[in-house]
Amino acid sequence: MNTINYLKNRLIIVSSRLPVLLEQAATGRWQTKPGSGGLVAAIAPIMKKQGGLWIGWPGKTVTEDMDIENLLRGAKRDFGCTFKAVPLTAKEVVGFCYGFANEILWPLFHDLQSRCYFAPGYWKVYRNVNRKFAEVVYRNSGENDHIWVHDYHLIGVGRELRHLGLTSKVAYFLHIPFPPLDLFLKLPWCFQILNALLAYDLVGFQTQRDKRNFVQCVRAMSKDVLVRGEEKVSTAKVDQRDVRIGNFPISIDFDEFALMAESTKVDRRVAEIQVNLGSETNRRTLLLGVDRLDYIKGIPEKLTAFRNTLQRFPRLRKKISLIQIVVPSRMNIPKYRDLKLDIDRMVSDINGKYAQTDWVPIHYIFRSVDRTELIALYRAADIALITPLKDGMNLVAKEYCAANVTENGVLILSEFAGAAAQLRADALLVNPYDIEEVADIIAAACDMPLAERRRRMQILRKKVRKYDIYRWVDSFLNVVFARDQTAFPPLEDYITSGSRKLLSQAYV
Ligand code: ADP
Ligand code: G6P
Repeated sequence: MNTINYLKNRLIIVSSRLPVLLEQAATGRWQTKPGSGGLVAAIAPIMKKQGGLWIGWPGKTVTEDMDIENLLRGAKRDFGCTFKAVPLTAKEVVGFCYGFANEILWPLFHDLQSRCYFAPGYWKVYRNVNRKFAEVVYRNSGENDHIWVHDYHLIGVGRELRHLGLTSKVAYFLHIPFPPLDLFLKLPWCFQILNALLAYDLVGFQTQRDKRNFVQCVRAMSKDVLVRGEEKVSTAKVDQRDVRIGNFPISIDFDEFALMAESTKVDRRVAEIQVNLGSETNRRTLLLGVDRLDYIKGIPEKLTAFRNTLQRFPRLRKKISLIQIVVPSRMNIPKYRDLKLDIDRMVSDINGKYAQTDWVPIHYIFRSVDRTELIALYRAADIALITPLKDGMNLVAKEYCAANVTENGVLILSEFAGAAAQLRADALLVNPYDIEEVADIIAAACDMPLAERRRRMQILRKKVRKYDIYRWVDSFLNVVFARDQTAFPPLEDYITSGSRKLLSQAYV
């Protein structure tokens, strides 16, 4: 579809990080580099087409020798929008970003409670930084702007904007899953977080399951809030106000991936990759994994399953290879550094055990690769092996389908990725914890006849094309900004954990 129909006013995107990050070159000069992750990948094409303002942290604590505004002005050309930086101190980055966001909300919302570190000090910093973001948004917005806040780092921004006196509508989208009630209650600040979400005019989730979990939490924890409507968008009545709650599966710019996949540059690179896979008549099957370094991506589990395939299906040795790309991420957090060491060790064990002079089972790349290389790999791969333990959506799954212009690839997808809700009928769904099942499915994918692969991939591509990123943004903004603006009544402060009493009455 490739057009945004709804937007008439300026769009302001608010996210924890800007899509353009600051880094210091070896010469000491400050420069910019693109950010990584699904949020940036999804929103950047919209802003490029539409323009607007993007507010966020530029990824480095500010020092005096940096002329941030000037550096960000330079990036406008590539991104098509203007930027406003929210400067954070080193202490704020630790408590807000590495701490509350990445050591509490991230693991908890991905059902991995044992990885949470509920440090009491993190909450205060999180709240203060959310207030800081809100102040920047308030100062830089006008009443006709459409303000759209993103992801788990900034849940409190809407509420803080109300405290500052903003009366126009504010929308929010959660890119990661929303946990079920039993898990959400483990969060010592669950009431504050729930009430902060209810300060927005629209709260968007990736899947029906996430939306259902949220509605269940609202019903159990906020006795005074009535939620109506079970369909795509429900409405919660909060202090005479309507809060819309919907599910909007995020997507990609399908046409851009498909077009690039057919470009001469990509063609040439695909041919080079295929030469390394053997002759036309005796070509090895190529499996591809592309993941940010993160325990939610289930990389060690995937490697174990791949080893299991080689063990239990000796006929596949020398016939299959896995290219596993891992994009460095969150290396300031010890658990992420440990994960990297685990992956290094596992790859080396598997290769040490099975490699032969003319065959390496796993090609492991630990760095970001450029667009051409990524799309060439998507196109060249016979099988995409995408097995997160839990994931909000997983755009890599959709990008693989869009770039698979030969329509003969197989998508192996975790049932716990948000993308499975849309793609389940034609992908091969697996439970990433079930090592033998994943190994069996890898073997089945290798044996799948061409006609069956084509049938499935054609349907997958049709779905991803139909529900692309432009349709996503249109449907989301339509729900929240299409109606007349209504004034926002004053709010009480965050409800404190004293409200737990309410819970015993409501949650039986
Ligand atoms: P997450 O948001 O958790 O990182 P997603 O799969 O939703 O996961 O999004 C990842 C995004 O990062 C995709 O758009 C993908 O193209 C991009 N990406 C993944 N690996 C690389 C890489 N090695 N180099 C560049 N970009 C990458
Ligand atoms: C996921 C999150 C994003 C986040 C990205 C990269 O995609 O949903 O909000 O920006 O991961 O993580 P980082 O900690 O590097 O910002």
